[in-house]
Amino acid sequence: MMDASVKMDAPFEHSLLDESPMPTIGREIARIDGPRKVSGAARYAAEHFPEEVLHGVLLRAPVGCGRISLVDATAALAMPGVLAVIRDERMIRNAGDFGGDAAPVQGVEEVAYFGQPIGLVVADSLERARAASLCVRVSFESQPGVFDMMAARDSALPPTDDIFGLFLIHTEQGDVERAAGEAQALVDTVWETPSQNHAAMEPHASVAIWKEGRLTLHGSYQSPVVTRDQLATVMGLPPSQIRVLSPFVGGGFGGKLGVMPEAVAAAIAAQQLGRPVKVVMTRQQVFETTGRRPMTRQRIRLGANSDGRLTLVQHETITDQLEGEVFFEPAGLATHLLYAGENRVVDHKVVRTNKQLAVSMRAPGEAVGLLTLECAMDELAEALSLDPIELRLRNEPKSHPEMDMPFSSRALVDCLRQGAARFGWERRNTSPGQMRDGDWLVGHGVAAAARGNLFGPSRVRATIQGDGRVVVETEMTDIGTGTYTILAQIAADLLGVPLKQVEVRLGDTDDPRSAGSGGSWGATTSGSALYAACAELRARLAAAAGACVDAVTLTDGILTAPGISRPITELVGNGLSVEGATEPGESNRRFNQTSYGAHFCEVRVNAVTGEVRVSRWTSVFAAGRILNLQTAISQAIGGVVFGIGGALTEELVHDPRTGKIVNRDLGEYHVPAHADIPAIDIQFLEERDLVANPLHAKGVGELGVCGAGAAIANAVYNATGVRVRQFPITLDKLLPGLPAIAE
Ligand code: MOS
Repeated sequence: MMDASVKMDAPFEHSLLDESPMPTIGREIARIDGPRKVSGAARYAAEHFPEEVLHGVLLRAPVGCGRISLVDATAALAMPGVLAVIRDERMIRNAGDFGGDAAPVQGVEEVAYFGQPIGLVVADSLERARAASLCVRVSFESQPGVFDMMAARDSALPPTDDIFGLFLIHTEQGDVERAAGEAQALVDTVWETPSQNHAAMEPHASVAIWKEGRLTLHGSYQSPVVTRDQLATVMGLPPSQIRVLSPFVGGGFGGKLGVMPEAVAAAIAAQQLGRPVKVVMTRQQVFETTGRRPMTRQRIRLGANSDGRLTLVQHETITDQLEGEVFFEPAGLATHLLYAGENRVVDHKVVRTNKQLAVSMRAPGEAVGLLTLECAMDELAEALSLDPIELRLRNEPKSHPEMDMPFSSRALVDCLRQGAARFGWERRNTSPGQMRDGDWLVGHGVAAAARGNLFGPSRVRATIQGDGRVVVETEMTDIGTGTYTILAQIAADLLGVPLKQVEVRLGDTDDPRSAGSGGSWGATTSGSALYAACAELRARLAAAAGACVDAVTLTDGILTAPGISRPITELVGNGLSVEGATEPGESNRRFNQTSYGAHFCEVRVNAVTGEVRVSRWTSVFAAGRILNLQTAISQAIGGVVFGIGGALTEELVHDPRTGKIVNRDLGEYHVPAHADIPAIDIQFLEERDLVANPLHAKGVGELGVCGAGAAIANAVYNATGVRVRQFPITLDKLLPGLPAIAE
């Protein structure tokens, strides 16, 4: 085994992906895992049925804040098939924060939020476990809690940790008060965004099996290795004693980034009872007992001079989180860099509440931060009587406006211009409330998209077998994003074998450690590690053929070079295996790396009912090289749908007396369905980012949601003249302001 590594200390000038004689990269390639998924052959976590398996049902706190005083399990334990009611101090009350191996906050005696896990009932069937769980009597000493972030916002404090130095808690430059006083146009607005649930299709599930002192966990995780390491810390075990398997994951969106309560409970129960234990969360438990996107209150103040140049950019966010937790919603993330402007403040504060753990959710920061910033830009454009696209063009920064740092690549202007042409922006009526089609008010909106491109260490093993087939193995996951397919494409192109000859194995902690699926870094990190492995394999094939690697072409299983033509099966002996690695370097510190885009939408607002329908959509993105046009478009559409939900329907409602999530299912928490979504037109611009990685690609998974909701809110304003600053924009907020129905 030989290691090959790529460290991004300088731009990677020359990518082998530009040389494949028969490239699959960049094309629309259907998912190679698709047939297994639609036929049911792909097994998800809850579909594992080991022999003698027991079923666990989580016991959860029915109070929002307090202390458990008594647990009486006598009646439950007397019920048929019930084996145990487990209360173990190692059980966790929270899901794990992302990254590292730190254990989440432990202990199930103190209740910090409504729905917190406090124990596990185990029986020989799910039904018996569930019935018994209803018969466990738990008494609490209730304590007063903090359930209303807005009421408690004077207690807001800066976050305790900047999370890898990425989230930039507080930045300021210039003199914002003076700039506000001198501005020719000023908007000073306050926005509210609600808690949200990730609502992945597959609920969280874990099946724990102990065999010969080793724990195997089949679970639904974005990062099996983070889950393993956190679980090891919680259980007091060496990580090598745990194997986590997540080959298929039915969506994550951040809700499966760290270890979750059901995994720990299953592991403890299996250890204690000596039999496999399965714990599958109900949809209600996913809503109440995993994690949520926190709510925010955001103040945005923008000032410009008379020619539409920003002089003031101010974005202050208050968000909520449990006591002792590190994560906060970094809503100002894109505000640091999206537009020019001398005088700036970006700030974040946290109110500690007794509500479910707040975690990352698709584009943490930008998703809700651009929702508000891009609406405020629309308001500023109106104040200046300027087209909102023109306002953005006039404030395009040449380099990072807060740091002495160039952009690795930035095509926001092209995205805005090409999107405007594609959508027909010039036909927009600039006066709000003027376009009608019967009872429907019609409006158009635009917003920019931006999402930071992150890079982390990752490893992949690539093997050319004696029969010429290629096997790619890494702990990396495919959470519906297309990892199986893009890794197969990279190997096929770089090693010159047909796509069908590549097998990709994912989601096993016994394989080389990846950066996992999160933060839109999955494809670029694991793809770059695979690139390193394949480059090394090419060198070894060339050496075996007696050729110079730079003169070698690999096509259809044949290596050719001047005077040489050899099947690769003749060159690999019994098989050739290389582990490739990638790690961040100087480039990641010297350049700002961000993906960009522009959203354009048309909405129709019913003048009688206030109902909002999104009727037309175009988004144009630039995210470096697009590895697979089909899976990238699929991610972009998914992101836009996320944005439509965030703008119009998605809101977790907390009972102000207990913090309890009232609408804890998909009937009451409305994620857009097909009938809510028009045809979505997506275009990716040609771009290469040489700074980012050997693939020259940037992340796409979270880009689509960034700014999407703002395009809708701006279109609703254009249709009605009503500006709603409390999301989601439901009809009750529109009705009082709708123009009277004439005629
Ligand atoms: Mo993403 S919210 O980092 O899974």
